Amino acid sequence: MTELLTKASGSGSANEREKRNLDTAYRAACECIVLLKNDEILPLEAGKTALYGAGALRTIKGGTGSGEVNERHSVSIYEGLKNRGFEITTKPWLFAYEKKYRKGEEEFKRETRKKLLKHPGSMMENLLASYPGTAADPVTDRDIKRSDTDTCIYVLSRQAGEGRDRRALPGDLFVTEEEKEAIRVCAESYKKFVLIINCGSQIDLSFMDDMEGIGAVLFICQLGTQGGNAAADVLLGKVSPSGKLADTWAKAYSDIPFSDEFSYLNGNLNDEFYKEGIYVGYRYFDSFSIDPRYPFGYGLSYTDFEINAGEVRAEGSLVSVRVQVKNIGDTYAGKEVVQLYVSAPAGELDKEYQSLAAFAKTGKLLPGEMEEFTLSFDMADIGNFRERDASYILEPGDYILRIGNSSRNTRSCGVISVGTEIILSRHHHICQEWQVFEELKAPARQAEDFAEGEADGRQMNETAEEVTRIQMPEDAFRTITYTYQTPEICKDARVREFIKKLSVSDMVEIVVGIGMFGGETRFTLPGSVGNTTSKFWDMGLANVALCDGPAGLRIQKRSAVTKEGKVKMIDAALSVFNMMPGLVKKTVMGDPHKDKVIYQYTTAFPVSGALAQSFNTELLYEVGKAVYEEMKEYGCTFWLAPAVNIHRNPLCGRNFEYYSEDPFLTGEMAAAITRGVQQEEGYYVTVKHFACNNQEDNRNRVSSNVSERALREIYLKGFQRAVRAGAKGIMTSYNRLNGVYTPNSYDLCTMVLRNEWGFDGVVMTDWFSTNKGLGDNALAMKAGNDLIMPGGNYFKKEILKGLKDGRIQVNDIRRCCANVVKAIFDSQIQKEYLDSDFELF
Ligand code: BGC
Repeated sequence: MTELLTKASGSGSANEREKRNLDTAYRAACECIVLLKNDEILPLEAGKTALYGAGALRTIKGGTGSGEVNERHSVSIYEGLKNRGFEITTKPWLFAYEKKYRKGEEEFKRETRKKLLKHPGSMMENLLASYPGTAADPVTDRDIKRSDTDTCIYVLSRQAGEGRDRRALPGDLFVTEEEKEAIRVCAESYKKFVLIINCGSQIDLSFMDDMEGIGAVLFICQLGTQGGNAAADVLLGKVSPSGKLADTWAKAYSDIPFSDEFSYLNGNLNDEFYKEGIYVGYRYFDSFSIDPRYPFGYGLSYTDFEINAGEVRAEGSLVSVRVQVKNIGDTYAGKEVVQLYVSAPAGELDKEYQSLAAFAKTGKLLPGEMEEFTLSFDMADIGNFRERDASYILEPGDYILRIGNSSRNTRSCGVISVGTEIILSRHHHICQEWQVFEELKAPARQAEDFAEGEADGRQMNETAEEVTRIQMPEDAFRTITYTYQTPEICKDARVREFIKKLSVSDMVEIVVGIGMFGGETRFTLPGSVGNTTSKFWDMGLANVALCDGPAGLRIQKRSAVTKEGKVKMIDAALSVFNMMPGLVKKTVMGDPHKDKVIYQYTTAFPVSGALAQSFNTELLYEVGKAVYEEMKEYGCTFWLAPAVNIHRNPLCGRNFEYYSEDPFLTGEMAAAITRGVQQEEGYYVTVKHFACNNQEDNRNRVSSNVSERALREIYLKGFQRAVRAGAKGIMTSYNRLNGVYTPNSYDLCTMVLRNEWGFDGVVMTDWFSTNKGLGDNALAMKAGNDLIMPGGNYFKKEILKGLKDGRIQVNDIRRCCANVVKAIFDSQIQKEYLDSDFELF
């Protein structure tokens, strides 16, 4: 038996890093909370409080599936309130619900176990099963009397996760009759009633329309390990809420374009037509004059701010606006988010009313305090893609700059005039539509719509006449003409030398992971979901571990090491392991009483949907840095995050893992976290899922059918910004895009990623996406997927088959292999274990 190389430790006590990261998680959680409504109810004073709702004790810290983090402990709302001095007066109600929950969970486990026994092959299918929770109980007059207080908090929660979209049904997108009744009773019976929404995405709030007495609404999303403490501090006013919505909340779900066609709803799970085109989220609501319930970028504070735009300048194509923000309240300190939107002129191309071009968050401003900063953006980044000649262009006319604190509360502060059409870049077409469908077009707009102020009734258009007007010089831009070719094999001398020594089948070993279950690794990171091979360890190539995110580093917190050196999990990494029939469970789960126990505690941060609400790139950098520290501590090389798919519809089961409906906000968040994680060479992010993985039902087969313009302007932008920030890993997605499996898409993996964006890292497949009947392994290599994950024998054979029948050439494999070897050579694991005594030449 070889010595077990692992960085997991024999001590389970919290170290300094863990304490520091808990603090980061707490600060992040505070900034992610959005105050949607407040009729002078909040902040509360710590005192007697009634607490109800499924999320009170069972607060959901993050969604399920690969995006779930196995932290030491998460603080529920109940616990957080108690920690901060509240006296909870509804314990009988809460504990009765807890009893019901546990019973429901046991029943669910029994049922799943039965299914697994009956159909052992359904393991994969059930892999992502987790108990969805149970319907909340009613709140009776007796509960209210017994609670002995005039203050009440109701926590409405929803769980969702990988593999399944949410349902447009009561109990999921909608409240159940029981929940509605319970909320109504609370709202009527208590003087101060606060509704807390604990869901990774939206809940249809139409039920509130005919309900009196909901004094305050907090959207906490899913806040990770410190959620309860952060929510309590916001309720108490210790922290003023400063989160802003990263999505538009419609008045009713049906207001969302083509809402009845999303995913399973129209009965067609094979094809999803992105008929709304570029009109996603606020781009739709603003362009079609539909009032949302809460607009994109919206969120209240306990104090008020005055935002004033100062000087507007342009240097080359860089536009900047000086901004002053003042806390004009007299009691509370707070932070404000300033957002800069641009309305592009009407022209040949149909345009959205406005799009976010820059934003910034102030520091904590005391009453009367002011902060000044500059918001800037590059005009070259806000062009529109014209399909007829595959170019990004700026059409001539006035680009109106709007500044404010939500997409529906802005003032124009400048006009940038473009005299003639500017061609920003010339491209080749990509991912051509294979099925023709009609895309939504916004109603024709007149130039005056933008200038006349409130002319369209949307109260967003203040006159643009008295603001600074800048004529953009034509020479501010340089047209980029992209050239397209298959990239050269990595030129790094170490890599070239190493590759030379490999046979074709050696190279195939390197470009295919070792499989998810039972693969041998030399360096072992318990709970990693993938590993590269360790077969070439003695030749000087380490194996590296890949671990999930994005809400933190998802690994095993406790593992058992058997006498034979086998590492097994102790706490079920996915809930299905808890439900497995005895014998199976015994083979995968270790016994902490018999075997040696090793530990790896990591931090559950707020989910990405919550983090985006902070609108705070420095904070995201810090979260990325915290993740990096954990990667370093446990030896993870590729973190399988951030995830940057777009919130196209609130029903997508993985919205909690994604940031926003807006590609710019998404990209900025991903870029900041990328910088944090990759601050030291050899630790990599893996930006996923490339691209258009915006639904979970039938995710392995559905074709996302989307126009090239919407693809480029909406769905690829987030990836592009992360790549610009230096991202070294990309994960292709499960779905097909316009009929082609994304790992097989040369257009995506090579033309866009490498030729246009200059990406020089590793592209990998999503887990099993090239399994039998799905993507093609050989073509995936040809397209530019360097690593097939999680791998195993089937995948290697398929690549070799492709070589034999001429679908690919040896150089395709060599190119991919070189990219993987380069990333491993640069990794810290390589340096730690091999580089010192490893001589190549
Ligand atoms: C998910 C990925 C994840 C991978 C490994 C897949 O099911 O789609 O996001 O990184 O599993 O766990």
